Amino acid sequence: MIVGVPKEIRPNERRVALVPESVNKLTTAGIDVLVQAGAGENAFFLDDAYAAAGATISSDAQTLFASAGVVVKVQRPDSNGGQPSPEIAMMRSGAVLISFLQPLFNPEQAKELADQGITSFSMDAVPRIARAQSMDALSSMSSIAGYKAAIIAAESLGIYLPMMVTAAGTTPPAKGLILGAGVAGLQAIATARRLGAVVKAFDVRPAVKEQVESLGATFIEEAIHTDEIEDEGGYAKQMNQEAQHLEQDLIHIHAKESDFIITTALIPGRDAPILVTKEMVQDMHPGAVIVDMAAEAGGNCELTVPGQTVVEYGVTIHGPLDIPSTVPVHASQLYSRNMLTLLQHLIVDGELHFDFDDTITKGCCITYDGKVVHEPTLALLAAK
Ligand code: NAI
Repeated sequence: MIVGVPKEIRPNERRVALVPESVNKLTTAGIDVLVQAGAGENAFFLDDAYAAAGATISSDAQTLFASAGVVVKVQRPDSNGGQPSPEIAMMRSGAVLISFLQPLFNPEQAKELADQGITSFSMDAVPRIARAQSMDALSSMSSIAGYKAAIIAAESLGIYLPMMVTAAGTTPPAKGLILGAGVAGLQAIATARRLGAVVKAFDVRPAVKEQVESLGATFIEEAIHTDEIEDEGGYAKQMNQEAQHLEQDLIHIHAKESDFIITTALIPGRDAPILVTKEMVQDMHPGAVIVDMAAEAGGNCELTVPGQTVVEYGVTIHGPLDIPSTVPVHASQLYSRNMLTLLQHLIVDGELHFDFDDTITKGCCITYDGKVVHEPTLALLAAK
């Protein structure tokens, strides 16, 4: 079996799916690894290091995609306006693709993969259960992104984050508001706290209060918390309109006095809920900053432009789309370890083995045997 590591082609994507350390573990186990020349260079993992780890370097993508039985990637293949995606077209029928596929946002691509006879696993569909923690690339990337969101906020604010006592007077610490205290939110809180900001956080799941407080932030408690807000997987459910308005009123009060807001509210498979309205932005002070981490799902702020930084009413609003890629070394290392663990889970005695009674394999397998098998994706396709 050959595992292929192509160079990512999405603009600004600097990560690579496997770093030499993980490649070495595979080659030591007798698995052949083919790495496209330059695949890791944007994350500073050079071809020589891959060769030293036992990989063969392939000079072009075509050869790599055609030879590999398992292709591992970071970004899903680009959609091609109804035409077959070039990366999918280069793969041979019966091969396996593992990458972030985001099937709930791109169900048509799952169909394309099935039609091409490609078995696919999506890193973002790995269930968030204890046994799968070491394969949970979404958490690894969210943690990096939460850290970097706090740095982006610090970088674009016109003030210090910590309190500063100087001969010219004392400046107060910056006040931050973090909306959504999942993996990304908690890391944003931790980073902003380390930089000296005073931080408040809000999440619809009251279960996170203790974690927020353990990081030295204040948890905003309100009556809109209900048990029904959380699903059996621990993710937030969509709120009804009344609860949404109550939440917006609450955020409005705290937004007015915040120097920066980092929004991370996510409901899997849905558009991001609007937490920060235009009116709230108008009421923030000039120079305030919003980092909207939910930009990819439309944004938690009404004025976010995904992929851009805009200034509205004197407030800088960032809608970054690929934050982990801006920390390419650690993002690649963590993703690679998650990928390696998933590969080790799927490979038994040197051969691929898919046990569909296993929660992890079933949970993240999107296509198999020419069919879409991922139930949430199937439900989406059926509803179209
Ligand atoms: P998560 O599921 O661990 O956390 C999301 C949190 O939002 C949960 O605690 C949930 O209860 C909370 N939430 C949901 N609806 C809410 C509401 N109406 N009000 C307040 N809180 C609410 O997700 P994770 O992994 O922390 O990711 C957070 C966001 O960051 C996602 O939107 C994800 O797509 C994004 N992200 C963006 C990246 C980028 O490059 N822009 C990179 C990685 C993650």
